[in-house]
Amino acid sequence: MNYPDKVKIVEVGPRDGLQNEKQTIPTDVKVELINRLSETGLSVVEATSFVSPKWVPQMGDNTDVMQSITRKEGVNYPVLTPNMRGFEGALAAEAKEVAVFAAASESFSQKNINCSIDESLERFAPLMEAAKANGIKVRGYVSCVLGCPYEGEIAPEKVADVADKLYRMGCYEISLGDTIGVGTPLKAQAMVKAVAEKVPMEALAVHFHDTYGQALSNILACLQIGISTLDSSVAGLGGCPYAKGASGNLATEDVVYMLQGMGIHTGVDLDKLAAVGRFISQHLEREPVSKVAVALKSQCS
Ligand code: HMG
Ligand code: MG
Repeated sequence: MNYPDKVKIVEVGPRDGLQNEKQTIPTDVKVELINRLSETGLSVVEATSFVSPKWVPQMGDNTDVMQSITRKEGVNYPVLTPNMRGFEGALAAEAKEVAVFAAASESFSQKNINCSIDESLERFAPLMEAAKANGIKVRGYVSCVLGCPYEGEIAPEKVADVADKLYRMGCYEISLGDTIGVGTPLKAQAMVKAVAEKVPMEALAVHFHDTYGQALSNILACLQIGISTLDSSVAGLGGCPYAKGASGNLATEDVVYMLQGMGIHTGVDLDKLAAVGRFISQHLEREPVSKVAVALKSQCS
């Protein structure tokens, strides 16, 4: 079996994780979370999103967050931008990288961003131009790659088509999102292989929510076929407000533990990361979802 020597982890907890929380989280807690994550060795910490505060109130302090964090050298802090309005906000807040997000399911696209898939791509076109003019890198997300909360199964060809369009528009990396965590390893492999016929494997990332406890297995299966970038969320935070029942992303602690055990370099200090997971979980008054965090805690006590 061929595994990569190193894996890039895109930490999405401060954005994907917190966007789904009902209680308003103070800006200084978000800033501390991002600053602490920056000290763990992660090279990418997705910080917030410049979406409509009417749709996702929790991300309404996006500018304050971006202006208050301590930007560590060598760490990227991408932010989500669904349209030009969001891009302009991100630019004003000195974001250096943004992410556009589309879906492989028409119904989810309507529910999440209030437009069809084609309309979303049309909205991204001027954003891509503006990003290029300003030297801003753009990541692209495709949601519902292994199932949709409204339409059920999604054909891998549909995922490949949307990923291809985003890549051709200029997204340097395409993150394939199992938004509701319904995927299983062989289906995940088949989907990634279908996408890799159109987009180079090196430009693909996987983003598994862990609703059915399959995320770690899915990641292992994807590493076997050439994936070396993955998204995860400290303490297993996360979900999408427009995908009912979707639980958090795979916990970063758990995937780092697995990769360390396989001798795959991540650059992440697991103890520091677990401490960050405990910090945010304490704030949210819950146990970290991460099994590794729980195991490390019981070793300490
Ligand atoms: P809309 O209502 O169709 O937009 O929403 P609109 O252009 O008609 O504007 C309506 C109002 O929103 C206007 O304000 C705009 O100015 C304002 P009003 O005149 O009523 O006062 N507005 C904005 N305000 C701030 N920032 C903006 C912005 N745009 C418009 N960027 C829109 C369309 C896309 C804005 C909306 O549907 C939206 O914000 N959706 C975001 C939903 C979201 O954040 N979902 C979660 C992230 S995606 C995800 O989690 C999946 C992922 O993790 C991968 C996976 O797991 O699959 C990435
Ligand atoms: Mg997500």
